[in-house]
Formats: sequence, C-alpha cells, structure tokens
Amino acid sequence: MSSKPRILIVGAYGQVGRELQRSFVDAGEIITRDRDTVDLAAPDQIRTMVRDAAPTIILNAAAYTAVDRAESQPEVAMAVNAQAPAILAEEALRTGALLVHYSTDYVFDGSKVGPWVETDKPNPLNIYGSSKLAGEEAIQKVGGKYLIFRTSWVYGPHGQNFLLTMLRLGRERESLNIVDDQFGGPTTSIELADATYSIVSGILEGRFGDVSNWAGLYHMTCSGSVSWYSFAKAIFTRTQALLDGKVPAVNPIHSSEYPTPASRPHNSVLSNEKLYTVLGVRLAPWESALDEAVRRLDVQQKQA
Ligand SMILES: NC(=O)c1ccc[n+]([C@@H]2O[C@H](COP(=O)([O-])OP(=O)(O)OC[C@H]3O[C@@H](n4cnc5c(N)ncnc54)[C@H](OP(=O)(O)O)[C@@H]3O)[C@@H](O)[C@H]2O)c1
Repeated sequence: MSSKPRILIVGAYGQVGRELQRSFVDAGEIITRDRDTVDLAAPDQIRTMVRDAAPTIILNAAAYTAVDRAESQPEVAMAVNAQAPAILAEEALRTGALLVHYSTDYVFDGSKVGPWVETDKPNPLNIYGSSKLAGEEAIQKVGGKYLIFRTSWVYGPHGQNFLLTMLRLGRERESLNIVDDQFGGPTTSIELADATYSIVSGILEGRFGDVSNWAGLYHMTCSGSVSWYSFAKAIFTRTQALLDGKVPAVNPIHSSEYPTPASRPHNSVLSNEKLYTVLGVRLAPWESALDEAVRRLDVQQKQA
C-alpha cells in the first residue's frame, strides 16, 4: 500500500476479525475494538469509538451471529446488525473513510435453482437474515465509500464454527447426524481476510479508479458448494490425525429431523462472478481452503 492508513477493526476478536488483524498487519496503524471496549448496541459508544480512532478505513467484522438465539432477541440483533452498521456508514461518510462490512447468504430464502447473484431479490427466512439485510440497506442508503461482502458458512482455526464443533463432537461421540439438504459455500476466515486485504490494497493504489467504479455489494465465498453432511465428511477425512484416528460415523438427515428455532435456506450458494469481474478477486475452492484451515489447526495443536 502506498500510504499508511489508520485501520479500525471492529469485532477484532471474532473469527473474521482475528484474520483481518493478520492480513492487514503491515498495512497501516491497526486499532482493534471488541465488546470489551465498545457495545455496538449503544449508538453513542459507536460514534465516540470512530471519532476517537479517526480511521481512514473501518473494517466491520462485528455482528450478532447467533442465528437461532436471534429469534428470541430480535431487538439486539437489529441493533448490532442493522443500526450499528448504519452509524458506522454515517461516520465513514462524514470523514471520507472507507467502510468494509460483511453480510450473509441468509438474506436469501433458498428457493433458487443455481447460485444467487447480487441482483436477486432477498427474502430472509429468519431474524438474523432480516437484521443483516437491514444493515446492508442502511449502508447503501448512506452511500459513500463502502464495500459489503456477502459471505457464507464462515469457519476457521479460531472461534465458534462448524469445523471446530465437528472436531469437538467427533471426540465425544461415535456417530453424528448431519443435515444433507442445505447447500452452501463453506468459506474460511483466512480466505475472506486475504481477499479483503487484496481489494482494499487495490483501492488505495487506485487500481479500480473512482469510487463509483467499485463501491457496492459483492458476493464473496470460497468456490464450489456442498451440503453440511458432505462438508462434515470432508472435515473428518482431513482430521484423522487430529482425532488420533477416532473418526465418528456421519449419517445424512433431513432438516426436518433437526428442528431449530431459525429456519435456514436449502440453497444459499452465492455466485462470485461480480467479485471477479469488477475487482479481479477469486477465493480458493472450499476443499483447498479447508486443507489450509486444518493445516493451521494442526500447527496450533503441535504448539499447544
Ligand atoms: N459465521 C458465519 O457463518 C457467517 C456467515 C455469513 C456471514 N457472516 C458475517 O461475517 C461477519 C463476521 O462473522 P464472524 O463469523 O467472524 O462472527 P463472530 O466470530 O461471531 O464475531 C463477531 C464479533 O462481534 C462481536 N460482537 C457481537 N455483538 C457485539 C456487541 N453488541 N458489541 C460489540 N461487539 C459485539 C462479538 O463479540 P463476542 O464474541 O463477545 O460476542 C465477536 O467478536 C459478520 O458480519 C457475519 O454476519 C458470518
């Protein structure tokens, strides 16, 4: 990057936030904020945070991500996922800062045959998806220099995610029943953070030209798609050593056999063509991204 920006990472210790810290480590002055320093349900605290930090780039990796709990806490989900991004966008517009924000495949209802594109009409099935959609719309309404990356099935070496849950359950149980009728694009926090860094670098270097050329909403996932069941099988194929060879049996089930408070889309596979066409970035296929995440877990385990 040509000049050293001030980069405010909000939600800096969530799964994506931690990887953004890694990817942007040499990109400028990094300022990290998380729940212990700001409550994103409190608008005044958000404004104070941004004004004190005076960033040129805001990376918002924070969100209320508990999909099922959101059904019983809609006000908190809306505050963190819709109102907080709106305030971040207003603050960014006021100072000319760049706002990078993440959204979700759960804005879609799953009814499409084939991958969803950015111009498809959202129709969330749950409170989490509705709150994230409201966040997207609020940022777009404010305008300015913003990027919204809709991603899906995020996991990585840290945090609460499907990979780490499978490893924990794999140690505890002999067999697991996993849903085989929901399809999506598993995406590592590693790939998301590296792609974000590459795009932000391009913007700072002027590679994409004027803001009107690049500001907007993009789908950003690892390529390919899979069901949760097949993803679980792929995880256990790669983690035999981590589990000392004790791999559980994995059985496919229907969503109806695993009722949850929040409904989930059957097909939330996102097309990444706009990301590639406009910004020239492609994330790795989900299989090789999974290889890399498992490799990092292996290294972590050996260092522990
Ligand atoms: N995870 C997925 O599968 C997935 C899928 C699609 C899109 N996304 C999007 O990707 C982005 C990153 O997600 P992630 O998986 O990295 O999430 P994550 O690991 O749950 O991290 C979210 C961070 O936000 C913080 N946070 C939540 N409420 C807060 C509040 N009121 N005040 C301050 N901080 C608060 C959390 O703090 P605590 O840990 O203390 O709660 C956590 O550090 C989000 O925009 C998410 O919607 C995620």
